[in-house]
Order: sequence, then structure tokens, then C-alpha cells
Amino acid sequence: MIGQDLIESLLETEMAASGDTAGWVLITDQNVERIYHRIIQDLKAGAEELSLPFLTLAIPPGESSKSLSKVEDLAGIMAREGFGRKTKIIALGGGVVGDMAGFLASIYMRGVAYIQIPTTLLSQVDSSIGGKTGVNLLEGKNLLGSFYPPKSVWIDGNFLTTLKREDWINGYGELLKHGIIKDPQLFTDLERKLQQNSLFDTDSRSLERLTLLILKGISVKQEIVEADEKEEGLRRLLNYGHTFGHALEALYHYQGYSHGTAVLKGMIWEGEMALHLGILNKEDFRRIRALIEGILPQGSALPSLEKDLEALIHYMKRDKKNRNRKISFILPEKIGKVREEFLEEEKLREILAKRKI
Ligand SMILES: NC(=O)c1ccc[n+]([C@@H]2O[C@H](COP(=O)([O-])OP(=O)(O)OC[C@H]3O[C@@H](n4cnc5c(N)ncnc54)[C@H](O)[C@@H]3O)[C@@H](O)[C@H]2O)c1
Repeated sequence: MIGQDLIESLLETEMAASGDTAGWVLITDQNVERIYHRIIQDLKAGAEELSLPFLTLAIPPGESSKSLSKVEDLAGIMAREGFGRKTKIIALGGGVVGDMAGFLASIYMRGVAYIQIPTTLLSQVDSSIGGKTGVNLLEGKNLLGSFYPPKSVWIDGNFLTTLKREDWINGYGELLKHGIIKDPQLFTDLERKLQQNSLFDTDSRSLERLTLLILKGISVKQEIVEADEKEEGLRRLLNYGHTFGHALEALYHYQGYSHGTAVLKGMIWEGEMALHLGILNKEDFRRIRALIEGILPQGSALPSLEKDLEALIHYMKRDKKNRNRKISFILPEKIGKVREEFLEEEKLREILAKRKI
């Protein structure tokens, strides 16, 4: 039964600490609410056992729910229902639910506790870890937010059995990124899964193995975040693939490429730059490209860099990580190690003129 062990352990933990909590608000999206109705019922029953008020708030799925107006709506409902400072928010869902519910938790009555139960691969390996919360503005993504870590994160690979293929791909993008940044064995394990054609298998053995890889990915992110909680140094390395990736998403108005696909493509281009700069060797670049192309859907071509380069540069020049009018790139030195380079746009054109691969 999906999530049964997780729910039992969670309820046990909460029972032990129930004196700290005066009510649970479960925030989810409507897809997750429909698919995991049983789990929500179990949590509700657990709350009843602890004599805690329980409220489920389900937002429409998708990025547009990561908004300040949605935060205001939910906060209003919570206030009207009498949920006070000792409320615990449970975020059950993907990165949208986690980011938005975490942000709400950070400001509701000046901050209430929250826990995360991430249900997508991306949210399990990435967004639930590290304490970044936030919502979007019309002017850009994640422009309002806070650093506000959850009290706990509950991972269960069984949630992935119901995930759509594109959401698997989004998650794999972040997982393999963690391998390239800091864990060559994780990268090799993913290569093996690709060779065995088992990347998207959901039988219990495959999910068990995948859960081990998810835990490795989490360790990479956790180590980096613990060393640099507020993104002043090391944490910037997590942006490998993101300079091009964010520009690509923006260029196609967040419709052409999902975040994960844009970052996967960004990782190829940034790997290629590292190759032409003499930072990365040919064999490691070949392996990075082969794994990414194996994860992307067949026939999903990269957009033409020649055609889009000037427009991409326009967006990359706005990147908040830039310094002194130089664009920040995280470039791989080898599988398992990356570094930050700041490049003038002219230098970027010069490097990319060398591409003949
Ligand atoms: N806070 C961070 O550090 C951080 C890091 C990376 C990304 N993010 C954010 O994460 C968000 C993307 O997260 P995401 O990819 O999880 O997207 P998402 O939350 O939109 O989920 C993707 C889709 O999967 C559905 N879904 C969720 N769980 C499911 C399941 N188990 N079975 C079937 N369907 C399921 C959702 O309803 C949604 O339609 C973006 O807003 C991004 O900015 C945050």
C-alpha cells in the first residue's frame, strides 16, 4: 500500500511530539488529492486520534498556484478556521506545493512549523531539501521567498509510480546534476540504469534501488546547503545547467520547455563550453551528453543555439548571479566536480563559435 509505512512512521513521530502542535493543515494540489485520497484520509484519522483539528487545502496543480494571491487565500481560510501559531502545515505534493506551503508557513503568524512529503522525483531530490521557499511574481519566478527549512522531510519512492513521464524527466535532470556536481558514483549508477533501460521502471525492486539513488542525490544537496545555507558561495554550484536553462525557459515564455528539460539542455551547453575552454575532457563530456540524451524523450532536439544565441544572451545578462557585467556559469571540470566562471558575453560568443560537435 503506497505510503502506508511512511504515514505510520509520521504519525508515530507526531504522537510523540503532539504537545507542540495544536492543529494540522494539509496543503496539496488537486491531482495529488485525487490520487492519494486514502493517504489524506489516514492523516486525518491520525489527527482525530490526537484530538487535533485537521484541514485539507487543495490548490489547482501547476506553476500558476505559486502566487502571493494563493498564499493570501489559504492564510485567510486558516485564520477563519481558527488555526493559530501552534499549527503544523503538511505539504503533500511536488515542488509547487512544497515551495508555496513552505513560504506560507514562514509568514503565517510570523512562522509556523511545516513538514514536507514530496511526491515528485524533483521534489524528493531537490526542492524539499535546503529550505528555500517562495512564490512567483509576474516579473519572474521565485522573486518572493524565504529560507525556512521544514521540521522534517518524508521520502517514499512509491509516490513515483503515478508520475507522468515528463515529471520523471524533470526529476532525473536534478538527480544527474547532483552526480555531476559531487558524486561520480551516482552518475555511474544512473548510466547503468540507462543501459539497463530501467530508468522509468516502477516495480518494487526498481523503486527500492531508485530510492537509494534519491538518498545519494539528497546527500549531495544537503552537504552543499549545510556549508552555505544562504547561497553566498558553494550553493551556487547547484546552478549547473541553470544559466542556459533559465534563459531557455524565459525565451520560450515558460511554455516551450519544462524547467527540467531546459536545465538538461543547459547542462549539455554548459558542458560544451567547459570542453571548449579546456576545462572538461572529451570523454566526460561524451558521457554527460549521452546520459542526458538518454533521459530526454527520443527525438527531442536541442533548439538551434545558432538561431537563439543572441536572445539567450539577452536573458542570461539579467541573471541575478552575474557579477560586474559578466555572466555566471557553473562549468564541469570532470564528472563529480564543477566550478563557477564569470564570462563576458563576447567571450561566450567566441567559445560557442568553436562548436562543431
Ligand atoms: N525550493 C527549491 O529549492 C526548488 C528547487 C527546484 C525546483 N523548485 C520548484 O519546484 C517546482 C517544480 O516542482 P515539480 O516538478 O515537483 O512540479 P509540480 O509540483 O508542479 O508537480 C508536477 C505535476 O505532478 C503532479 N504530481 C505531483 N505528485 C504526483 C504523483 N505522485 N503522481 C502523479 N502526479 C503527481 C502535480 O499535480 C503536477 O501536475 C517549480 O516551481 C520550481 O521552481 C524549487
